[in-house]
Amino acid sequence: MKGLILSGGKGTRLRPLTYTSAKQLVPIANKPVLFFCIESVVAAGITEIGIVVGDTRDEIRAAVGDGSAFGARVTYIEQDQPRGLAHAVLIAEEFLGDDPFVMYLGDNLIAGGITGLVEEFQQLGPAAEILLASVENPQQFGVAELTEEGVVRRLVEKPKEPKSNLALVGVYMFSKEIFESVKRIRPSARGELEITDAIQDLIDRGLTVHPHQVKGWWKDTGKLDDMLEANRIMLDNIHDNGRSNWPEDVRVEGRVEIGEGVELVDSLIRGPVVIGAGARIENAFVGPYTSIGAGCSLKRCEVENSIILSNCQIRDIPLRIDGSLIGRNARIVKTDFKPKAYRFMLGDNSEVGIT
Ligand code: DAU
Repeated sequence: MKGLILSGGKGTRLRPLTYTSAKQLVPIANKPVLFFCIESVVAAGITEIGIVVGDTRDEIRAAVGDGSAFGARVTYIEQDQPRGLAHAVLIAEEFLGDDPFVMYLGDNLIAGGITGLVEEFQQLGPAAEILLASVENPQQFGVAELTEEGVVRRLVEKPKEPKSNLALVGVYMFSKEIFESVKRIRPSARGELEITDAIQDLIDRGLTVHPHQVKGWWKDTGKLDDMLEANRIMLDNIHDNGRSNWPEDVRVEGRVEIGEGVELVDSLIRGPVVIGAGARIENAFVGPYTSIGAGCSLKRCEVENSIILSNCQIRDIPLRIDGSLIGRNARIVKTDFKPKAYRFMLGDNSEVGIT
């Protein structure tokens, strides 16, 4: 089998971060979401991987390289515009050939990996296997309607009036039959070639689409709250190496992963927390479910339940920072200028919450 990972698209819901960076490279527990995808495809024994890239191609290539760091061989497939998930399959036909393949959306995370799913697909041999999960907001996903016997009747992309609460998870397995279907469908009202329409076409052609209901957690990390939740879940699995000879004024509690060259001074770190290489934390509290990127500097501040990307500076902040996602090189510091006032320099679509 081959792998097809989708890492193009625009990432509008994570602006302003995605003005300057691919959404698939925003880190969860200090690791880009895309890396989790690649790792779980490789863990399922699939090492020939095509990655669909768009505007952020250079950044994705720089991060993933030829795939050897993951034990994979990566081929990049250029998509000129985000013309839809089925369009991504269409342009990958030459790479995929006649091989069955797993398609993984580069902003999705599934607990427990996909090894069992790939095995099930290989045993059953359907034209497609789709993953379904119960959600509270099916309007925001592709939605499946099943018959009483559990057979897939209909798939609709982001329906206004969903017929079920079963959302399509961003991992799909296909046989080569899908190519005919992606060629038969037409763009949807939003102008995209929808993979839901292509799978519906398989059903309409009388081919088998096997639905697998996902029991564990799954996240589409396209939005802030979902990112923070994925961060909390991933931080529960980090490699704990926080216990070393810290000075007496440093307390490290719970599960903590600390990178090379991190300096801790007069601080309390209460895990689960990951701190990237070269960060310096002084006179600060880093509370549960926080990821601090490499090279950050935190001084006289408190942070918890947040994702702070690399090389940020946070200094002299009187209230605890909570539930935040802070982009690379951001500075949040107290100033002594007059008049006494808030001073912001924020990118388009930034969000600031003040108590
Ligand atoms: O997360 C699951 C959902 O993913 C499914 O329930 C939906 O049926 C499916 O359409 C998809 O919906 P999204 O609106 O979340 O898709 P998004 O535009 O965010 O794209 C998903 C990934 O694929 C993302 O990493 C960007 C990439 N992509 C997207 C498009 C449209 C491409 O590489 N090329 C594209 O043309």
